[in-house]
Amino acid sequence: MHTTAAVRRKRAKPLPSVEIREMELRDVPAVFDLGQKLFTAEEWPTLYRSWDDHELAQLFSSDADTCLIAETPDGKIVGFALGRVTEKPRSAWRYGLLMWLGVERRFKRAGIATRLVRQLTGLFIDRDARIMLVDTAAKNHAALAFFRRNGFGQEIRHVYLSQNLENDPRYIERNDRSEDDTED
Ligand SMILES: CC(C)(COP(=O)(O)OP(=O)(O)OC[C@H]1O[C@@H](n2cnc3c(N)ncnc32)[C@H](O)[C@@H]1OP(=O)(O)O)[C@@H](O)C(=O)NCCC(=O)NCCS
Repeated sequence: MHTTAAVRRKRAKPLPSVEIREMELRDVPAVFDLGQKLFTAEEWPTLYRSWDDHELAQLFSSDADTCLIAETPDGKIVGFALGRVTEKPRSAWRYGLLMWLGVERRFKRAGIATRLVRQLTGLFIDRDARIMLVDTAAKNHAALAFFRRNGFGQEIRHVYLSQNLENDPRYIERNDRSEDDTED
């Protein structure tokens, strides 16, 4: 495992200073591109939540005030923390959900995600959230180390199961039907 010193020693030149600010509409394409690089299908096999332009556009349009980005002085977006505050049915409490967190590879281990999450936590508290929730794949060791280091605990494992529907008679029938339709 890398020590912080070892990781930092590897940097060819010091990183530029980075500002954390609220995400704006003009940032959406750059945030999307950065997410595409970080959340690849192989590393993120669960489909219940996938990084796509629709998901990002939806989150931004409903919860822009809890979406933060990290930007270099020359306007490059190198990190983001996208969240939303929500209420659960039958619970009086409000929850802050950290939906997506990412930092550009070259800028990792420089405390950027820590700053993003701290600032987002403040925004959640301002909006009366009492609990902050995150989730990640069990094998995402970097993210788990990061979250544990940043005060998250009470871990609950969740198992995803899947079933291939291609052998279900209804699937086969439906496909046969649509093939017939295209032949007409
Ligand atoms: C997880 C992630 C956001 C961390 O961003 P970061 O800016 O590098 O994090 P920080 O520099 O603030 O790290 C703070 C601490 O977290 C822990 N940590 C972060 N990355 C780690 C890693 N790869 N291995 C072990 N510990 C790590 C360390 O304790 C670190 O402190 P240190 O550098 O002094 O040792 C980043 O690795 C990332 O973008 N990963 C891909 C996307 C992802 O998995 N997102 C999370 C789920 S949505």
